[in-house]
Amino acid sequence: MLDRHNRNITYLRLSVTDRCSLRCRYCMPADGIPKRDHRDVCSAEELVEIARAAVDCGVRKVRLTGGEPLVRRGILEICRGIAAIPGVEELCLTTNGAALARLAKPLREAGVSRLNISLDTLRPERYAYMTRVGRLEDVFRGLEAAEEAGFTGTKLNVVLMKGFNDDEIPDFLDLSCRYSVEVRFIELMPIGEGRNAQFLPAEAVLDACPCLQPLEGSGVARRYRSPGGRGTVGLIEPMSHRFCASCDRIRVTADGKLKPCLHSRQEISLRGLSGEALRLAIEAGIAAKPERHYMNETGRSEAGRRMNQIGG
Ligand code: GTP
Ligand code: 5AD
Ligand code: SF4
Repeated sequence: MLDRHNRNITYLRLSVTDRCSLRCRYCMPADGIPKRDHRDVCSAEELVEIARAAVDCGVRKVRLTGGEPLVRRGILEICRGIAAIPGVEELCLTTNGAALARLAKPLREAGVSRLNISLDTLRPERYAYMTRVGRLEDVFRGLEAAEEAGFTGTKLNVVLMKGFNDDEIPDFLDLSCRYSVEVRFIELMPIGEGRNAQFLPAEAVLDACPCLQPLEGSGVARRYRSPGGRGTVGLIEPMSHRFCASCDRIRVTADGKLKPCLHSRQEISLRGLSGEALRLAIEAGIAAKPERHYMNETGRSEAGRRMNQIGG
């Protein structure tokens, strides 16, 4: 379905939980988040029903997000339910990778087509510092398990932070040469805890490696390849290069609120709706998509929620 700015909305990002197994400093408060009553969060059936109604509105790609989607009880059942909806061409999942060693194969069998894995540093002690509780080796074991399970097109999400991982840009580029993955450098967005970390423009990656060869872009990313590299490099630049004009997505939070834009306060409640009423509410959400975000001008997101509650 086209929105009012002539953008075709085909991509649903569905958050299945706001909880996470890690406590990344730019995302989660140190003490974690208050535990919600499970009745405040959409059930597996509700999530599948929302995805089905979104498909009726023209959605073709669904991405499960969090928090961390793999801590959600019944995640495999949710994947199976959504993968079975006629019209879902891609079912993707964005994960911190901590539980992938155990879950990669079952996820593949449940119909997940592609994974994006968050990995902001390649150094064990930095990883432990940034995530407060995580172990880098778990993510590497998860990556291996994903490959063994037959996943291809895996992307690694690296949020760039000045003074934290900018000295690792060459190491990440090297990784993209040695493995068939896309390493995507993401500009830090001033949302939630993200306002406390140090921004670095993604252009720094091009400065570090002027030899990167441009490829055709994909979604929100500009793409490149190192000469002779097996994998690719992506730059996601919400702050420097706005991609709102080609936005193709809507989001639904774990508590069932449709967010027409990641950075707008607008929310449409989908809970308790089904059938035609649910479809009309999703259509209203698509119609309500703002033209763009204003973070560049205001220096902050208007989302009114933290990233772990929206799913990125
Ligand atoms: P692909 O399907 O592989 O292209 O994934 P994706 O980039 O859509 O999803 P992912 O969950 O890996 O998101 C990567 C980063 O891009 C995260 O930091 C998201 O917050 C950010 N991002 C995704 N969509 C948008 C968007 O519409 N606006 C903004 N500002 N950032 C976004
Ligand atoms: N700015 C940019 N990206 C962020 N993510 C979480 N918080 C922020 C932020 N403030 C990323 C995560 C994950 C993706 C879904 O969003 O690292 O890769
Ligand atoms: Fe968890 Fe992702 Fe937030 Fe890190 S960025 S705390 S992995 S939801």
